[in-house]
Amino acid sequence: MPRRPRVLSGAQPTADSYHLGNYFGAFKQWVALQDEFEAFYFIPDLHAITVEYEPAQLRERTYIAAAQLLAAGVDPERSALFVQSHVPEHAQLAWVLGGVTGFGEAGRMTQFKDKTAKSGRDAASVGLFTYPVLMAADILVYQADKVPVGEDQRQHIELTRNLAQRFNHRFGETFTVPEPYIVKATAKVYDLQDPTAKMSGSATSHSGVVNLTDEPKAAAKKIRSAVTDSGSDVRFDPATKPGISNLLSIYSALTERPITDIETEFEGQQYGHFKVALADLVADFVDSFGSRTRELLDDKGELDRVLAAGAATAREVAATTLATVYDRSGFVPAAHP
Ligand code: TRP
Repeated sequence: MPRRPRVLSGAQPTADSYHLGNYFGAFKQWVALQDEFEAFYFIPDLHAITVEYEPAQLRERTYIAAAQLLAAGVDPERSALFVQSHVPEHAQLAWVLGGVTGFGEAGRMTQFKDKTAKSGRDAASVGLFTYPVLMAADILVYQADKVPVGEDQRQHIELTRNLAQRFNHRFGETFTVPEPYIVKATAKVYDLQDPTAKMSGSATSHSGVVNLTDEPKAAAKKIRSAVTDSGSDVRFDPATKPGISNLLSIYSALTERPITDIETEFEGQQYGHFKVALADLVADFVDSFGSRTRELLDDKGELDRVLAAGAATAREVAATTLATVYDRSGFVPAAHP
């Protein structure tokens, strides 16, 4: 029986919560893809340790991430939802792929250059340098066909394709060569204080980022204090009105109404009026999202069970790929004593 095409993605648990940009930019898409694809969604905790971090905090963030993905609609009945470190084949394959990755090739990854621009390469960990190789392993170990990611990850997918092709060429057809599925975000969400930068968990100021765990009041306040542009019409024009345009996309994403509709509704009204209306919507959204997340977090036993089932499904696929890779690589099979 031909299998359904596979989709795979991950989102790092590097903040205490995912934010509105992750939700509309990625998770909504992941959820929508569950029907058509056999889906693998995971929390890349192995990637999270490539920068300085606190172990207890990582553990808590991993649970929060899992709960938020479930609250967003990832359905464990249809998709494998798991934690990367529960599937040892990721790290095992990464080691093998390291052998076919050029040092120079890895050195050209712009995300590594960006992340080390401030403190310098010598201060970075080797893990941060080889991060894209582990990411390639994440993808190839499932023979994924499509990988939904943001534009910033395109180069890593390109590397993944090159490694897959190189391995296939040297050792025989082993890997599906994946395609990036550059997420056409339901809404690309920008920072509320700097609407030319995308909303990011690593932003220096939190006032521009609506976290999915924000208290409704705090979230509403962030929206009301969002920077807006000169002029006064509520009109979508990202080039000259990035602030108001960002708020319009959020409004549209939350209500699933077209932007033009919303422009018409607020025609002749002040920015302030529009912001108050959006603040209410966002407050309601984080309120219900937050209570669903807390419910899931209150039962860690159940969360553990969901993640264990996801990891079991994932391992079946991952172990099959790894066995082929080890064989092609020339490793002597381990005999059963
Ligand atoms: N590097 C990705 C990011 O920062 C997260 C990630 C790790 C990932 N492994 C992946 C995404 C595999 C897609 C597929 O967003």
